[in-house]
Amino acid sequence: MVVSAMSISKEVMWLRSMIPNIAVYSSRNRSHVRLQAMTNPELGYEKPNAPEADRVVKLNYCSVSDLMSIDSIGTKRASAIIEYREKHGPYLTIEDLRQVPTLSQALVETLVEKLDWSFNGYFVGPPQLVCANANRLGEIIKSPVDLILTSPPYWKKRDYGHPNQLGQESSATEYVRQLCDIVDSWIPLLRLHSSIFLNIGDTFCEYSLAGIPALVEVELQRRGWLVVNRIIWSKNSGVPEPLSYRLADRHELIIQIARNREFYSDTSVLAEYMGQNSNPGDVWNITSGRNDSKHLAPFPEELVKRIIHFACPEHVCRTCSKPFRRRMEPTFELDLKRPQARRAIELFNRAGLSPQHLEAIRAVGISDAGKARRVQSGSDKNAEHTKKLAEEAKQVLRGYFREFTFGKKRQIGWEKCKCSLDTMPGVVLDPFMGSGTTVRVAHQLGRISIGSDLIMPDI
Ligand SMILES: C[S@@+](CC[C@H](N)C(=O)[O-])C[C@H]1O[C@@H](n2cnc3c(N)ncnc32)[C@H](O)[C@@H]1O
Repeated sequence: MVVSAMSISKEVMWLRSMIPNIAVYSSRNRSHVRLQAMTNPELGYEKPNAPEADRVVKLNYCSVSDLMSIDSIGTKRASAIIEYREKHGPYLTIEDLRQVPTLSQALVETLVEKLDWSFNGYFVGPPQLVCANANRLGEIIKSPVDLILTSPPYWKKRDYGHPNQLGQESSATEYVRQLCDIVDSWIPLLRLHSSIFLNIGDTFCEYSLAGIPALVEVELQRRGWLVVNRIIWSKNSGVPEPLSYRLADRHELIIQIARNREFYSDTSVLAEYMGQNSNPGDVWNITSGRNDSKHLAPFPEELVKRIIHFACPEHVCRTCSKPFRRRMEPTFELDLKRPQARRAIELFNRAGLSPQHLEAIRAVGISDAGKARRVQSGSDKNAEHTKKLAEEAKQVLRGYFREFTFGKKRQIGWEKCKCSLDTMPGVVLDPFMGSGTTVRVAHQLGRISIGSDLIMPDI
């Protein structure tokens, strides 16, 4: 991709801000030249060290008055720093601070030393960018990753103009073979709990869809992968369909695959992020928004955010590589946006039911109600008094009792390993990174990120 100086997009500007940290790998001779050493060359992160911890003002958590304790920061500058953080999220690189109006470049330089930049317990370095064929990453990247999230080129859709690009194969079968070979070549990078999200598209060929997503799923299963989830990314708008007999294409598929059943994914974190109470389901309506980048097919950031929240752990043990999983507990707090929930609470209060009734409803569940009474036998292991309480409550709540079977969940801690508590953030890799949406969002969410592509933006 060639970007003229006049047309540098937001994404390329962002990639450019990463330039001191780009590791340029030559896939031909396998050697790599690091333009500037990173804080932690292998992993791109560090725990706040002693001098960092000594710095009193925590940039990502401080208030206006904290900032004013620093020489040369008055109310106006302090407020501008906080306002920028509230609008754009945590400060992760010096570039972020440079964007704050009212701060001169010279002041920014002096502030770097005076602030604690840690976020979410870590200081996460900028993404590492690699220029290489996706099939070489198993050899090039030396540290394991927790999540691979990527959108490989679709078959026969776009020509990226590189002789080694994927997507120009003469048949769908050959494309599927090549893609699955590339996916297999990432196995050495995976931890036990890692999974891969592939955005797979289809192509019409001789009046018929080639069926690429299905072919990829079948081939990956044949090669020993588990197909864990198939997400439908639905869109409200898109490219107009010129053929009158065909419905305009308004969805894409994302499949989650893993090597074994230990994979990490957390529906409660995703539900919380999406402002929902229960499992958010596998149909995600995300409008792509305007494509400001010069790239032909960038991901929407929202899609990447959801997948990272869902499948990239926030903390991973540095000793045993186990992810920390949230320990959640169901509560009886209902979603008051639902009219059914409001009605359930009204009936509960009117009948003077007790918390024990709610416990009983939850213990018995829905196995003794409605149609379930006829079609399910259930384990029926509840004590008589529990069944009696549930029965009493269901009589007055009627169908609304169901509302109490899926109350909000709250986090009560972490399921941790037995090692020391020396952890690192999860690592996200995008081997077909294009304009870098995945690494940019991963970085914003406090994850270590690595992006690679055959073609680097012209920086
Ligand atoms: C669909 S785009 C990715 C878009 C990206 N998700 C974004 O948000 O910008 C596919 C990318 O794969 C790259 N590509 C094609 N063949 C490749 C290969 N064999 N190895 C690595 N990258 C490749 C292309 O240069 C292109 O940038």
